[in-house]
Amino acid sequence: MRTKFVAGNWKMNTTLSEAKALAAAVAKGVSPTCPVIVAVCPPFPWLAAVGEVVSGSPVALGAQDVHFEKKGAYTGEVSPAMLKEAGCKYVIIGHSERRHQLGESDAAVNHKVHTALEEGMHVILCMGETLAERERNLQERVFQRQVYAACAGLSDEQFSRLTIAYEPVWAIGTGKVATPEQAQTAHAFVRERLRVVYGAPIANAVSILYGGSVTPENAAGLLHQPDVDGALVGGASLKADQFLAIANAATAP
Ligand code: PGA
Repeated sequence: MRTKFVAGNWKMNTTLSEAKALAAAVAKGVSPTCPVIVAVCPPFPWLAAVGEVVSGSPVALGAQDVHFEKKGAYTGEVSPAMLKEAGCKYVIIGHSERRHQLGESDAAVNHKVHTALEEGMHVILCMGETLAERERNLQERVFQRQVYAACAGLSDEQFSRLTIAYEPVWAIGTGKVATPEQAQTAHAFVRERLRVVYGAPIANAVSILYGGSVTPENAAGLLHQPDVDGALVGGASLKADQFLAIANAATAP
């Protein structure tokens, strides 16, 4: 059975004091017996401080990106080893804001996924179609291309540390959420594609989160779909009460 997972992507938001207060409120609100994995992903400069705040709590720490090389002359970049030393277990890779605003390619995403997994991290791999692609009914082609490109060459053990986040680009930060049926259809398709190439045990074990305008109001409908294993939350993760309400929606049977 897949464990439900709710991760907060804070993006380029919060001051240091806001980040520490938000992390403290989230850590306080997640009980040690919580059956859902809860993670927060603050901006790079706040990782170590937020890591200290959540240490000893059930809340895990994640980063929003990582470089595809392990070390070297890469000005401005951050390696998996640095993230781990700052306390991160998770790293988000291939977010649509990086793919579309910064030109991150499928090949770069695959390289990052490999490096992060080789260095022992858990990866949250983002994928999803743009509005133009959905309007032309190309979403399944896009899912297949993104998933196969990102996962190429992974071992069975590496798949056990991979989570996929389906985030339709038209739903991110727009207030336009996918319907539970749209999310379920997309997740089932991705799982089926994984089954075809990697086999049923891997396809059934990989968690697939939904992301894109998740709120406390729409979370339960999404999270109760059979192939929706959690949520990657942007805007609503900046308010502890909203983020905790989404995590609670994931706990309900
Ligand atoms: P949103 O962002 O919840 O603000 O739509 C989700 C994401 O980009 O991960």
